[in-house]
Amino acid sequence: MRHLIDPTDLTVEETERIVALAEDIIAHRAAYSEACKGKKLATLFYEPSTRTRLSFTSAMMELGGQVIGFSDANSSSVSKGETVADTVRVIRCFADIIAMRHFKEGAPLVASQYAGIPVINAGDGSHAHPTQTLTDLLTIKREKGRFDNMTIGFCGDLKFGRTVHSLIKALSRYSGIEVILISPEELRLPDYMLQEMQANSRLTFREVRTMEEVMPELDVLYMTRVQKERFLDEEEFDRVKNSFVLDPEKMKNAKPDMIVLHPLPRVNEITRAVDNDPRAAYFRQVENGKFVRMALIYTLLQWADENRPYERTPVFGEEYLVNEHVCPNRRCISSTEDVDQLFRRMPDGTCRCAYCETKAR
Ligand code: CP
Repeated sequence: MRHLIDPTDLTVEETERIVALAEDIIAHRAAYSEACKGKKLATLFYEPSTRTRLSFTSAMMELGGQVIGFSDANSSSVSKGETVADTVRVIRCFADIIAMRHFKEGAPLVASQYAGIPVINAGDGSHAHPTQTLTDLLTIKREKGRFDNMTIGFCGDLKFGRTVHSLIKALSRYSGIEVILISPEELRLPDYMLQEMQANSRLTFREVRTMEEVMPELDVLYMTRVQKERFLDEEEFDRVKNSFVLDPEKMKNAKPDMIVLHPLPRVNEITRAVDNDPRAAYFRQVENGKFVRMALIYTLLQWADENRPYERTPVFGEEYLVNEHVCPNRRCISSTEDVDQLFRRMPDGTCRCAYCETKAR
């Protein structure tokens, strides 16, 4: 059974096929209006969402399918203490495919072990957001015409920004990618991501502290919100919340064909005046999200019918240490749900939690 938990669950070829299918759907929308007739999508959202949940809903409706689910876990039996594992064992009786957003990192991975139907990670804590990555890739393809040979600046909350983590993973498989990380010290990319980037010979990266110093170099500027809900310490949030603001003055130093992306929602990190700049692509990016989710739902349902195996070994086919370490991350699903503590041994000898990628102590 194929799931999408991490962007690298799809090979580069599979990713590009889904992006190409989304482009075909855009060009021939009517041809797909019954592509998923008779199928049901369950949207299980344990955390707030506007774009992801509604674009999944709209995507399934445009494919001729139906949608069930919840947008507030308190209105489901989760509020009575039901586990993710039991919830999806129930949902599989009612639906053909699941899109799950959860505040706990690794929750969709647990769901995929028990569901028996395809599970799509619609965002897990500050860990990953692979369908936003597909959205970003489709937008980059439509706006820039390529995935390789570009300089991309990631700005803002790189620590908790799951969209940043997933897009860097996906782009690191292409050649000629230069990543510039623009963040305050407190919001640097997590260590596991920095180590992965250091080990990747195809990708170059550097860290800077201001947007201004790199603006003229960028082909893509990926802005992010400082995520108040992820901070355990409110004073720390107050210190960094206004770190970076993109305004028309800063846009003057950017290339004429640079594009600005943002997964949204935004707070104050892009001023409203930038919206009128043709390089501001973030609302076009939102619409792409629906088309690429149509392509993904259609593909995963087809693969489920064919019983198609993974082309790369997925997480649970790899060598694991079971219950030898305890994950130290309080945001990990393994801190609250009764699951095996699974750790993967990395090439450098360290062990990382299978659910959230935190290093074992
Ligand atoms: N980009 C994104 O995930 O937006 P929502 O939180 O509104 O789904």
